[in-house]
Amino acid sequence: MQEPRKLYVKSFGCQMNVYDSQRMADALAKEGYVETQDPADADLVILNTCHIREKAAEKVYSELGRLRKAKQDAGSDTTIAVAGCVAQAEGAEIMKRAPVVDLVVGPQSYHRLPEMLEKVRDGKRVVDTEFPAEDKFDHLPAPSAAATKKRGPTAFVTVQEGCDKFCTFCVVPYTRGAEVSRSVSKIVGEARALVDQGVREITLIGQNVNAFHGEGPDGRTWGLGRLLEELASINGLARLRYTTSHPRDMDDGLIAAHRDLPQLMPYLHLPVQSGSDRILAAMNRKHGRDTYFEIIDKLRAARPDIALSSDFIVGFPGETEADFEDTLDLARRVGFASAYSFKYSIRPGTPAAEHDHQLSEEVKSERLARLHQVLEASKTAFDRACMGRRFDILLEKPGRLPGQLIGRSPYLQSVVVTAPGAGIGDFVTVDITDVGPNSLAGQVVDAVEDRGRTSDRPLVAMEA
Ligand code: 5AD
Ligand code: SF4
Repeated sequence: MQEPRKLYVKSFGCQMNVYDSQRMADALAKEGYVETQDPADADLVILNTCHIREKAAEKVYSELGRLRKAKQDAGSDTTIAVAGCVAQAEGAEIMKRAPVVDLVVGPQSYHRLPEMLEKVRDGKRVVDTEFPAEDKFDHLPAPSAAATKKRGPTAFVTVQEGCDKFCTFCVVPYTRGAEVSRSVSKIVGEARALVDQGVREITLIGQNVNAFHGEGPDGRTWGLGRLLEELASINGLARLRYTTSHPRDMDDGLIAAHRDLPQLMPYLHLPVQSGSDRILAAMNRKHGRDTYFEIIDKLRAARPDIALSSDFIVGFPGETEADFEDTLDLARRVGFASAYSFKYSIRPGTPAAEHDHQLSEEVKSERLARLHQVLEASKTAFDRACMGRRFDILLEKPGRLPGQLIGRSPYLQSVVVTAPGAGIGDFVTVDITDVGPNSLAGQVVDAVEDRGRTSDRPLVAMEA
């Protein structure tokens, strides 16, 4: 029998790419490819790339350099494909800059990979960065039961793609295109299949996930809140999350979902980018700092134990020291449980790239360090306040020591537990006994009898 062909996929950037990489692997599994963790062993290497900041995009070319050398040294004929947002943004340019690349495929064309690979086998170099009329989701196969099991008890489901917000710093509306939502029935069908195969937690993903407005089974347009309510009725689906959201799309229905659905984890990633009204306007964010505070007040009223996470950009063109201090002030006032902060990076083709008042690298670095300090202090304070609290943990993977397992708290913190008799995919109730910089430790207090736990039990067991 012929040896199966081997596939190595490397994902850069956001969760959308992780999800898309899995869908590509599922499509290629049908063509006889099995996944390998070793690029040297692969017949096909796919780099699923990110274009959000310059550094992210540059990584692709250094990775391609490494692959070219390895291919030359081994004298192999590995096929090299570039997918994702760099593929979409730079297309044929990649072919010119990196002759080692055989195939460039944009995020909307992954269902065409098998036919593209056939052309490569005929000796052609192929570029497809179109936005085809057909829906790739209708053409990409569902994962096999074995593939889902291997990926563990948590899964992503894409509910929308693209973005219509056009923040002036951001490439996403250009690389991922206009906002398109999937239909409720397709999303629910995919979620049910995952749960049947053992998935216990689903994160709904999209570039602007809470802009979701998919067609419901009643023929009406459903928002994300209504979709979450529907998903919460799936027996066995214990936890729901969604990411990444825009403040403008936090409507009352979605805030009510945080109040009404115990399955919806009390943790929200809600990027604010800046705390200065002037900069928010220049970023075309369509909200001010007060709107952001109001949304958080509403969320906390709906779900008092909710924790928040955010993204920040420092050194946006024209940002003054006073603007930056507004950002520090916002960060202090909200008290984020975690946050990501970035130096503004010029993205060609976006409006902010043309701005006359670009800031120096020194100013950006200095502000990033100061913001980082505030955000780290607030993360540490949040983690320390978890000491002694009681959480349900979904066990996801083995720990470093024998008998140890690592799971996630409702707040996405990694929690290390020793839980004899428990396995990956189980929930255990633990008391938090130790708080480290990267993870918490917990003592199991509830016997592990929860295999097959259904969604009709509240999952955040917190002390009063
Ligand atoms: N420069 C720096 N950070 C950026 N982001 C998006 N575009 C840029 C850019 N040009 C950040 C935003 C966004 C996150 C995914 O990446 O904070 O929320
Ligand atoms: Fe980019 Fe998010 Fe703004 Fe859309 S909402 S343009 S994805 S930063």
